[in-house]
Amino acid sequence: MRAVAGVLRRGALAQGAEVERLEAETGAFVGLPPGVAVNSGTAALHLALLGLGIGPGDEVILPSYVCVAPLHAVEYVGAAPRLADIRPDTYNLDAADVRRRCTRRTRAIVVPHLFGLPADLDELLRLGVPIIEDCAQAFGARYGGRPVGAFGEVSTLSFYATKLFTTGEGGMVLSRDRRLLARIRDLRDYDERRRHTMRFNYKLTDMQAALGRSQLRRFPVMLLRRAAVAARFRRGLAVLPVGLPLPDDRRTHVYHRYVVACPAAASAAGRLARFGVTARRPVFRPIHRTLGLDGFPGAEQAYRHALSVPIYPALTAREVEAVIRALQRTFA
Ligand SMILES: Cc1ncc(COP(=O)(O)O)c(C=O)c1O
Repeated sequence: MRAVAGVLRRGALAQGAEVERLEAETGAFVGLPPGVAVNSGTAALHLALLGLGIGPGDEVILPSYVCVAPLHAVEYVGAAPRLADIRPDTYNLDAADVRRRCTRRTRAIVVPHLFGLPADLDELLRLGVPIIEDCAQAFGARYGGRPVGAFGEVSTLSFYATKLFTTGEGGMVLSRDRRLLARIRDLRDYDERRRHTMRFNYKLTDMQAALGRSQLRRFPVMLLRRAAVAARFRRGLAVLPVGLPLPDDRRTHVYHRYVVACPAAASAAGRLARFGVTARRPVFRPIHRTLGLDGFPGAEQAYRHALSVPIYPALTAREVEAVIRALQRTFA
């Protein structure tokens, strides 16, 4: 609140010095140059696709099991979305299925690290198609010791209110390719340009950036708190007949969501509500269902079984125990 009030007192509210600092600090957090801040994760995906020169006649692969934001971004640029299936154990893209769906026209793969767990980046990078890492849910996670966001041709973040750190609404494009970043920076803002081409108003404000910077300073502590809650969940839920998140030696999990696999997600959510615990399907509806397509058994399985239980840094120790007790009563 102090940081935002400081911007209000100074009186320069729109995109300015605070945004520039947030861009530098966020890039530095993953070892990359300053990013391009925008006003949503969807805008970040849109500009990432435009920056790669993707448009009509091109195909972009994305998972079926993710929110519709990546689908919208592909539609904005006039490219053809091609869905691929996920691995139901990690909820992330199945690289073998992606390979099957690549064609001569495939120009990029959108790779979300869903719920905070890095996708199979080695296998996906081996396909030789440019990767857009969608880090909306996974900023701070590591794959083979390196931070996600540093693997793809370009990466995107969302700072929406429920994300790991927030500016209310917001997002960012990251890349190590400074020329790509310059193209994307040019597209973000339309004002005072000598040469006309289609541009956007996707700017973040200094009020939002001040909030983001204050969150970023506390970010490592917030991640530690999420990890501690997840460790307690793992101990408390180990004996129950539910599948728990699967970090391994290659990848750390930042637990944007704590998703358990249970026999029937919809009815389990109803039972948990009776104990005062709100649990949700973490993805509203797989995209293949939205588009009326078949052939995505991994996404179907996730849709039926995945249940997101509360995890966030401000959850108190008592609340954590109450969630565990409710899950034990629901599933025992
Ligand atoms: C994986 C993923 N990609 C993209 C987005 C879009 O971000 P935003 O809501 O900031 O537009 C979201 C946010 O919900 C997301 O979870």
